[in-house]
Amino acid sequence: MKNGLFIVVDGIDGSGKSEVIKLLHNYLFSKHKKYRILTTREPTNGVYGNRIREILRKEKVPTSNSKKLLELFVKDRQEHLKNTLEPFLKSSNEHELNIVLCDRYYYSTIAFQSAQGLSTEELISKNKAFRKPDIAFILDVEPSIALKRIEYRKKEKFEQLEFMEKIRGNFLKLPKLLDDNIKIIDASKSLDKVFESAKKEVDKMLV
Ligand code: TYD
Repeated sequence: MKNGLFIVVDGIDGSGKSEVIKLLHNYLFSKHKKYRILTTREPTNGVYGNRIREILRKEKVPTSNSKKLLELFVKDRQEHLKNTLEPFLKSSNEHELNIVLCDRYYYSTIAFQSAQGLSTEELISKNKAFRKPDIAFILDVEPSIALKRIEYRKKEKFEQLEFMEKIRGNFLKLPKLLDDNIKIIDASKSLDKVFESAKKEVDKMLV
């Protein structure tokens, strides 16, 4: 695997992405000494990512500012790929296998910004030049369960039941819309079970 391994975990807020990513990170780190792992997220902590976070913190209406957000998410992704993901994946060689674990990617743009009212075709086309992950996990869970899981934290712009139902529906349509290696995982199950399903798929890619 000369070009590294690019893994994405995506899904609605409260689907358990970060927990699954942590478990995958630990698992891969101990699995083989030749694996180097970069765990990262979008939006990033760069200039564009921070502007996004500011908008998400301040605004309450889920559908507002869709165009501006789309532009920022795409710019943030461009920077992330150019400065972080591509150089890391490229530096993989016969002694070291570089693995990226990325929390959210263009699947979020398609699911969220289309729920904001932008056209799915436009969203796909704005993201089609970006590197395809080798595998993408979409953690699928009912929004009412997801909201329960995150009830302790302050709700952001997109964390409202009806809006999350739309986003969930959009995530579930992705395998039909994209020619990507997408695995939908039932994330209403226990964290152990969700992790086991993801691990099994990752192991298949590492043989
Ligand atoms: P953040 O709190 O950073 O992420 P998380 O909820 O995963 O911890 O907020 C990111 C929010 O932005 C989240 O609600 C998903 C949304 N989002 C988009 O609308 N479009 C995108 O392209 C991305 C990457 C995220």
